[in-house]
Amino acid sequence: MAIEIRPVTAAETKEYLRVLPYVNGFPQEEPEPSAWYAGSAAWPPQVPRTEQLEQDAAELLTDWFRPQAAFVDGKIAGGSAIVSVEVTVPGGRQVALGGVTSTAVLPTYRRRGLLRQIMGAMLDDCRERGEFLAGLSASEGTIYGRYGFSPATFQHRWEVRRTDVAFRDDFTDTGSLDLVDSAEAGVVWPVLHEQVRAVRVGEISPLPGKWQNLAALPADGSGPAHHLVHRDTTGAVDGAAIFRLPWSPDPALAGVLQVEAFEALTPVAYRALWALLLDFDLTKRVVAARRPVDEPLRWMLTNPRALKLTRTRDNLWLRILDVRRALEARTYAATDVLVLEVDGHGRWRLDAAPDGAACTATDADADVSLTVNELGSLYLGGVRASELMYAGRVVERTAGSVSRLDALLRQDRAPHNAVGF
Ligand SMILES: CC(C)(COP(=O)(O)OP(=O)(O)OC[C@H]1O[C@@H](n2cnc3c(N)ncnc32)[C@H](O)[C@@H]1OP(=O)(O)O)[C@@H](O)C(=O)NCCC(=O)NCCS
Repeated sequence: MAIEIRPVTAAETKEYLRVLPYVNGFPQEEPEPSAWYAGSAAWPPQVPRTEQLEQDAAELLTDWFRPQAAFVDGKIAGGSAIVSVEVTVPGGRQVALGGVTSTAVLPTYRRRGLLRQIMGAMLDDCRERGEFLAGLSASEGTIYGRYGFSPATFQHRWEVRRTDVAFRDDFTDTGSLDLVDSAEAGVVWPVLHEQVRAVRVGEISPLPGKWQNLAALPADGSGPAHHLVHRDTTGAVDGAAIFRLPWSPDPALAGVLQVEAFEALTPVAYRALWALLLDFDLTKRVVAARRPVDEPLRWMLTNPRALKLTRTRDNLWLRILDVRRALEARTYAATDVLVLEVDGHGRWRLDAAPDGAACTATDADADVSLTVNELGSLYLGGVRASELMYAGRVVERTAGSVSRLDALLRQDRAPHNAVGF
């Protein structure tokens, strides 16, 4: 069996795409806002017809989609791709991220090390391009830790019964709400998302074309997408939501309002949008599947338990490819100096401050020892070093250093990415 790992050429893209439908079984706990989350196409892909393959292959031939494949005896047996996106890191810099996506190995070639080799080639490619972070969202939690990836953002699914909703405080909306069509939503969302990702740690830049197809968001049994926008007193959009009202013959499932996307730049927009969505006539339940873990909504309710968390899931997994550049790219919540020993990736003196950091190789004794996996989880501030220390994954070498590391990495809001790749 002759194995060759290399980038997929234009002529081979169709063959690569034929491998992808074997990503069946991708966990879809419910009608997923997958089209919203990762683009306009439904996921997982169906076994494509030839003409569909040709169209997809033509669309994929871009400089931001970099597929690599394992060729076994000249034929593609598995593949994966890096998409070039940006992620917002603490301090607000939007840095290049090699986003691993569209990964599959044919069932007849699994567990022979093909993904391992493909991943090695893709991460080398990222390094050569100067990308010091790679990321992905994982189909299964057991696959990617071995390649140095680790969860850095998390998301909640929650639901609330409409009859349980009572707001604590009277609230006057100083702005206005409006239902708009998908064409207008297609104008609103790109601007709003840019404003959101400028300030939200963990948020990802949209893939090209993402906003062009809001009208084509598939109905997938959940009914059409509805677009709600909020404007401030000057008429500027400061929040928006996409929701559906799926019909069901089953009384237990009927009357659900499914929130597919929700962004608010201000507390007023946040409260106004939820006030409408949570008191929508003829609905019984509101479900939101991809929400930040520090959702403020519960604090608006007289009964905070009315908001029931039904799932927590890891979302963005990070792989730090260059420790020095990664640590110097973000800012810190305090001023301190710590020596970090990153197994297999050197020992680093981190001079951290609120306006940035210097990271230099050192022989000094380490304050904290960890691997690149733990560093990936800590990097955006969504996981605490003390939590990982109790799990035996971060080792404190000098007393108090893990608390000091937590104080440096802390973020006001939990990192979150509402869009993916
Ligand atoms: C996940 C997938 C791409 C792995 O490809 P593969 O070529 O079989 O992986 P490898 O042989 O290189 O595996 C490397 C290691 O990971 C392990 N591994 C691979 N897939 C695994 C899985 N799903 N669960 C647990 N371990 C897994 C292998 O046993 C091997 O372990 P080792 O290092 O101890 O030998 C393949 O199983 C697949 O196509 N699965 C269905 C689609 C999917 O889940 N895609 C990922 C989308 S995010």
